[in-house]
Amino acid sequence: MNTAPFTSLADLARKAPESGIVEVMNRGRARGGVLGLWAGEGDLPTPRFIIDAATRSMAAGETFYTWQRGIPELRQALADWHAGLYGTAPDMERFTVTGSGMQAIQIAVEAVSDPGGRILVPTPAWPNLAAAAGLRGAVVEAVPMRFAASGWMLDREALADAAARPGTAAIFVNSPSNPTGWVATREDQEFLLDLARRTGAWIIADEVYGLFVYDEAPSVPSPKGRRRAPSFHDIAEPDDRILFVNTFSKNWAMTGWRIGWIEAPAALGQTMENLVQYSTSGVAVFMQRAAIAALESGEGFLDHQIERTTRARGIIADALEKTGRVRGASPHGGFYAFFALEGEKDSRATALRLIDEAAIGLAPGLAFGAGGEAFLRLCFARDPAQISDAAERLTHWISASL
Ligand SMILES: Cc1ncc(COP(=O)(O)O)c(C=O)c1O
Repeated sequence: MNTAPFTSLADLARKAPESGIVEVMNRGRARGGVLGLWAGEGDLPTPRFIIDAATRSMAAGETFYTWQRGIPELRQALADWHAGLYGTAPDMERFTVTGSGMQAIQIAVEAVSDPGGRILVPTPAWPNLAAAAGLRGAVVEAVPMRFAASGWMLDREALADAAARPGTAAIFVNSPSNPTGWVATREDQEFLLDLARRTGAWIIADEVYGLFVYDEAPSVPSPKGRRRAPSFHDIAEPDDRILFVNTFSKNWAMTGWRIGWIEAPAALGQTMENLVQYSTSGVAVFMQRAAIAALESGEGFLDHQIERTTRARGIIADALEKTGRVRGASPHGGFYAFFALEGEKDSRATALRLIDEAAIGLAPGLAFGAGGEAFLRLCFARDPAQISDAAERLTHWISASL
């Protein structure tokens, strides 16, 4: 968009990047009939019992300003849910409800980085963290991950070098990763925590896909028996410099609601309250009642979602691998296949061709930063039948066009 006539626009606002996925989406929408798997959300609507909790609350008149950090009942429910998942007994003082995972990230950046602070990001990565940090005037430094036959790996040496330089405010760690499906091992997390402790940097731990792990992933059973990715919760002390950002969007199919949370050392409570106060001033109570219902009664829905994504992942990974011309089709976690096609180096051009020639919409890897340029991201949090259709369109195109 040309903002040139508005010379008084703030530099940081002017420089905020456009999403690298939108061009492909626009082309797909204009063409029509395209199976769009470009966005990061599932196809299931929010379960009825969650909606009912919100409408009951609204009908009961819970429509007023509320606690900045979230109603105590939800903060306690978050603490209890964490206890069931990680076997710890966290103080509810650690939790602040936010108006989405995205806002949790924004607050995390505001909490730990002054303008000019450096935030290290292993890439490819979901681009919103870097954009939010940029709006804050922080300097984002990509530390590309290595891609091998076994999957993606942290470049520990490069991270250690980068973290040792002055002004490192934070390391952003998204595991399981959007887009790569990388799942940090306990050793990766021990390395990162040790690095943070030695350098004084914060870790911004984005574990929003922590329950979506597949056979090859390192995983840990929770006290409730649910399989999950290794977490910094497994190794950290309560006062380690870690800010966990999370969301109701993915686990409970609530992307449109805009509610998430941030978990921080309890001593930061007032800071969290202030950062919420001067942005959204809190999340609507009726949404928080819905969030409590999700945490307390959402296990069955979670089982259903995870069973579905596991099946869908199997369908797309098997089909792509069988072609012998695809690398990286079997993510260890998350709900995206992030793969490169033989001979195709420019993901933007490939994504546009796929729209026109195969009527399938994928996100170009270019949008996810250094290392992603040749890859395409496909979201498989869908009806497995739809993913079979996607697999057919893709494999047909690969055999006809590559
Ligand atoms: C890695 C990651 N973190 C955070 C979010 C934030 O989700 P939301 O803003 O919907 O809560 C997303 C959404 O796509 C994501 O992929």
